[in-house]
Amino acid sequence: MRDPGLIAAPSVDPATVRVTFEYVACATVWLLVGTLAGLIASIKLHWPEFLPYAWLSFGRVRPAHTNLVLFGWASLVLVGLALYVVARTSRVPLWSPRLARVALGLWNLALLGGLVTLLAGVNRGPQEYREWVWPLAVVLAAAVLIDGYVAYRTVAARTLPEVYVSNWYILGGFCYLPILYVTSYLPFYQGGIGNTVVQGYYMHNAMGMWFTQLALGVSYYAIPRLLGRPVYSYALGVLGFWTNLLFYPLIGAHHFIFSPVAWWLQTTAILFSVGMMVPVWAGTGNLLLTFKGGSGMVRRSYALPFFVVGLIGYGLASTQGTIEAFRTANIYLHFTNFTVGHSHATMYGFIVFIAWGAVYGLVPRLTGREPSPLAVGVHFWLALVGILTYVIAISTAGILQGLAWVAGQSFIASVIAAEPMWLWRTVGGLLMAGGHVVFAVNVWAMRPQRVVVPAPAPNAVGMPA
Ligand code: HEM
Ligand code: HEM
Repeated sequence: MRDPGLIAAPSVDPATVRVTFEYVACATVWLLVGTLAGLIASIKLHWPEFLPYAWLSFGRVRPAHTNLVLFGWASLVLVGLALYVVARTSRVPLWSPRLARVALGLWNLALLGGLVTLLAGVNRGPQEYREWVWPLAVVLAAAVLIDGYVAYRTVAARTLPEVYVSNWYILGGFCYLPILYVTSYLPFYQGGIGNTVVQGYYMHNAMGMWFTQLALGVSYYAIPRLLGRPVYSYALGVLGFWTNLLFYPLIGAHHFIFSPVAWWLQTTAILFSVGMMVPVWAGTGNLLLTFKGGSGMVRRSYALPFFVVGLIGYGLASTQGTIEAFRTANIYLHFTNFTVGHSHATMYGFIVFIAWGAVYGLVPRLTGREPSPLAVGVHFWLALVGILTYVIAISTAGILQGLAWVAGQSFIASVIAAEPMWLWRTVGGLLMAGGHVVFAVNVWAMRPQRVVVPAPAPNAVGMPA
């Protein structure tokens, strides 16, 4: 099947344009706040006297960072883009932009409440990525359900017989996140070993069944659209979708290798982590092969290089995850900073780069306004050099920690070994933060005009008409 973007599509209605842009703009604000929290957390690890206030202590700033960058930035930007993609690939206007705007209000309310309560020290304890107290979780869940409903009604109203592969991924993500979120908040899973198993299930499925699904769904639309050619293999896209669904839900216990979680469940998680190589390489290979012969386009476009980095990040960092899951590797790497390196290599190196590529590739078509290519280039290089510095430094710290612990050295020896790397992490973080500020300026430059004009000339943004 051809990419639907290549067939003449109806012009985008102004309400869809506005609401998509509002999601991207709000996400950008949360990106800046979340980045600031990450930077503060990072500085505190090598300069503990920095900002010595209780509300800015490491234990409060860290979850503020993770929740803001995961739910405020990555989720909101991908939901905004996904709502646009479902409308375009279904050849209909978005079903109820007004309801989508209500959902955006709920997202922002939950995020603001989450930020205030976490900094005030009000949380549910060490339940990673689900630290928010339940009333805020209910508001967030309502927002996700509404967005999912809007996406579903849009696809249901499509004027084509097929459901394009992007929509499989996007609707899949919207179905799975509520299941995950409700499971993780159920009162009878909040203690003992059951809580640990649910924590692993929730943590990695949020990554694989939410962020990955939305990022791949948006990529399956945007990449062929930008390159002006169909996706390399439609069948591989569908294979990736079903195998992701098959393997992901059972890999959660790989977070707790050598823990009191049942040994057979750990082994199952390791086996399924190996199985994950099927969807990962089906997706990475399929989308990278779509670029075959298009290196000239990549050089001319400012959006496509973000996708290239994001796809390479997806393939390599996920393979790293599979290796980390093996007991022989995990014995050295678990509890160390190596996991933080993997988190940023995947979430940033894959998800965030894809989101940026899609913003730069799709938003100018919507609003008729482009950012300065120079500013996009500055953003790209700051983010790329920043994340490489971050990941290399913190992964080295993790290896040094693991080696020290396995050798039976004192804990403080591992702290002394890792400390210079924490400083380098801050250097990388500062570069990334600089890139985020430039990105915010670029988003402002792409804001919709009062009267929506036709999309810019194809050559300007390297897209087919
Ligand atoms: C083949 C696919 C993948 C496998 C097998 C895998 C494996 C792992 C393993 C074994 C850990 C735990 C390490 C430890 O604690 O000892 C981990 C942590 C993590 N992974 Fe992955 N990974 C994969 C892909 C991804 C992707 C695509 C993302 C993001 C979209 C991601 C995000 C994370 C995050 C955020 C953590 C840290 C969780 C925490 O402890 O807070 N992973 N991964
Ligand atoms: C905007 C993109 C970013 C995303 C999606 C992101 C994501 C994450 C995630 C998932 C974790 C949990 C890691 C784990 O438990 O394994 C984390 C922790 C952290 N992040 Fe980020 N991050 C981003 C940017 C940054 C930046 C720019 C900095 C600045 C240095 C930063 C500094 C930190 C620190 C210090 C931690 C705590 C690590 C620890 O507990 O040792 N992050 N981030």
